[in-house]
Amino acid sequence: MLKELREVIEIPLKRPELLTQFGLEAPCGVLLVGPPGTGKTLTARSLAEELGVNYIAIVGPEVMGKYYGEAETRLRSIFEKAAKAAPCIIFIDEIDSLAPDRSKVEGEVEKRLVAQLLGLMDGFAKTHGVIVLAATNRPDHLDPALRRPGRFDREVQFRVPDRHGRLEILQILSRAMPLDESVELGAIADLAVGLVGADLKAICQKAAYSALRRQVPDWRAVAQIPQGSPIPTNMTLTQADLLQAVKDVKPSVLRSVE
Ligand SMILES: Nc1ncnc2c1ncn2[C@@H]1O[C@H](COP(=O)(O)OP(=O)(O)OP(=O)(O)O)[C@@H](O)[C@H]1O
Ligand SMILES: [Mg+2]
Repeated sequence: MLKELREVIEIPLKRPELLTQFGLEAPCGVLLVGPPGTGKTLTARSLAEELGVNYIAIVGPEVMGKYYGEAETRLRSIFEKAAKAAPCIIFIDEIDSLAPDRSKVEGEVEKRLVAQLLGLMDGFAKTHGVIVLAATNRPDHLDPALRRPGRFDREVQFRVPDRHGRLEILQILSRAMPLDESVELGAIADLAVGLVGADLKAICQKAAYSALRRQVPDWRAVAQIPQGSPIPTNMTLTQADLLQAVKDVKPSVLRSVE
């Protein structure tokens, strides 16, 4: 997904004039759609880092809560700031709370904000080097006008990973962990049917904690060790730790896949 997304936005961000030469209009917004815990937020953040461009993140519910009343001014200033900081990614997380379907909401403030966001995106479509990424796990709650050309006209789907995907994620997540020889991540991937990245992370964390507990029987005593003094380095995480964790973690997406 990272690769697909990178291809869509790298050129428009860094070499917008290249597109213009070919009479192409740069994409303005890309919508990241997928169930909770599939890595949308993570991807947006790591993408900005990987591309080495500026990055402004806003979280829908926060704008609505914290800045209620001044939400419109704030939105505008974010877009202006981004234009000055081009190449720049604006990331709107949980956009469904900021731009809900106007035909289904009551509040005037919400409706105005949707309209304003649309206006800002139209206005900034001509700004070179600014891309708006937005994430949602409830695409059907979004105002349909958001998806018109020149707004969020591209979509990248984040799916619940299959076995291969799960194995890859487990490998990434456990890279820094002291794995025992008994560990066979493939077997964990087999068992973790229906689990998403966030769940797999929970499994790794849980397993690591139980490994730590087992090998450090006196938990309290460890906390007393002055910081900076050496800690035992021969501790490992076993397959049994992982298997127990798989049993304990409940999937964040409750639906059958595969
Ligand atoms: N593909 C992945 N590779 C590695 N870790 C992942 C992956 N997907 C998810 N994770 C882990 O799960 C955590 C949660 O993912 P993230 O917050 O990006 O999900 P999300 O799609 O934004 O979910 P939501 O819709 O609930 O906001 C991440 O911090 C990361 O540790
Ligand atoms: Mg998220």
